[in-house]
Order: sequence, then C-alpha cells, then structure tokens
Amino acid sequence: MPITVKVLDVSGNVEAEFEGEKNVVLTDTALKYGSDIPVSCGSGACGLCKCKVIEGLDLINPEMLSPSLMEMDEGYILACIAGIKDDVEDGHITIQRTL
Ligand code: FES
Repeated sequence: MPITVKVLDVSGNVEAEFEGEKNVVLTDTALKYGSDIPVSCGSGACGLCKCKVIEGLDLINPEMLSPSLMEMDEGYILACIAGIKDDVEDGHITIQRTL
C-alpha cells in the first residue's frame, strides 16, 4: 500500500493529495501536486513552510534534509526539511498549512 499525503490549506480544505515519495521533502512533492505551501529559505530557518500534522506524525522524519534551526512546537513540522521516514511502507499523512 502506498503512503498518501494530504495537504490542507489554512481553512482546512484539501488543496493537494498525492502518493508520498521517499527521500524528497514534503514541500517538493506538494508543490508538484498543486499545493501552495509557502517556501522561502528551504532549509528550516525561516518558518514560512510550517505545517501542523493532523495525521501520521509517526510516519514523518521532521529533519530529513537538515536540522531545524527553529524551535518547533509538538505536532508541527517545517515541510521544507521534513520527509517520509525510510522504514515506512504505507499509511496516511495529513498536514495543514499555517500560512
Ligand atoms: S521555507 Fe523556510 S523553514 Fe521552510
């Protein structure tokens, strides 16, 4: 079974839904499928891509690309550096934009 990823906008509406890809940060795949997650630094420094994890927190490596340079609240990720964990084979991830 695949890993499905859903991105909600700030109001909770689904703006993108796609099959998750390993070794790719969430913003890269999400933008390809029509999400408007804002991205600036792309390195975990500015917080623009901060998302709340609604579902599937245990499936996400929050620092796949690099260590976060920001203090993050529990249940939130920086989608520009976060990705799907290597050992995950199936499941559902839902993240919601904060901007
Ligand atoms: S775009 Fe700056 S932290 Fe993600």
